[in-house]
Amino acid sequence: VIITQGKYLASAVKPEQYPELQRKEVVFIGRSNVGKSSLINSLTRVRNLARVSSQPGKTQTINFYEIGAKIQDVPERQDFYLVDLPGYGYAKTGAERRKIWSRFINEYLLTSPNIQFVCQLIDIRHEPMASDVEMFKWLVENNLPVLVIATKADKVSKNAAAKSIAAIKRKLGVQEMDVLPYSSVKNQGRDELLEVIAGCLTD
Ligand code: GTP
Ligand code: MG
Repeated sequence: VIITQGKYLASAVKPEQYPELQRKEVVFIGRSNVGKSSLINSLTRVRNLARVSSQPGKTQTINFYEIGAKIQDVPERQDFYLVDLPGYGYAKTGAERRKIWSRFINEYLLTSPNIQFVCQLIDIRHEPMASDVEMFKWLVENNLPVLVIATKADKVSKNAAAKSIAAIKRKLGVQEMDVLPYSSVKNQGRDELLEVIAGCLTD
C-alpha cells in the first residue's frame, strides 16, 4: 500500500459520532504510553497527525483518521480509517473513568462492522502485563483478528528484542503467532504492517 494522505476525521465516545461514511478500519489498542499515536504518525508519515505525549493517558476518545491509499496496479483508491483508542491500564484515570472507558470502547469493538483487524501494541521492554493478557484474550474471544506489535524496538538490542518477542508469545499463550517488532523512531516494521493492511484492503 502507498499512503497518499492522512488526516484527522472525527472523535467519538458513542456510535452517533462514528464517521457517517463507512470504510474499512484498522484499530490500535494498548496500554497508555505504549506508542499507539506515534505508530499512526510513523505509518502515515504525517507528523503530528495523532497527538503524542510522554504523559500517559493522552488519547481519551476514539479517534478516526482518514487515510488515502493506493495499491500498485489497482486503479481504484483504497481509502480506509486508522482508529486510535485511549490506552488501557492507566491507574491514574481511576476506577470510575476506567469503567466508562471500557464501556464505550467495548461498544465500538463489538459493534463496528468495519474493523478489519486490531493491532494490539505491547512495549518490547516489558513482559505483557495482566491487562495486556486480558485484553488479548477478550479480543480473541470476540472473534476480532489481532496482530500483536512489539513497540519501541529501537530501545533494545536485536538479541533482547528476539527474547522479548518469545516472552510475549509465551505469556499470551500463542507460540505460532507472529509478533511484529516496530520502531516509530526508525520506521522499523512499517513495510510489514503496510503489507498486512494491503491484504485486508484488497479482499
Ligand atoms: P496514550 O495516548 O497516552 O494512550 O499513549 P500512546 O500509546 O498513544 O503513546 P504515544 O504515541 O503518545 O507515545 C508515548 C511515548 O513513547 C512518547 O514519549 C513517545 O515519543 C514514545 N515513543 C513512542 N513510540 C516510540 C518508539 O518507537 N521508540 C521510542 N524510542 N519512543 C517511542
Ligand atoms: Mg495516544
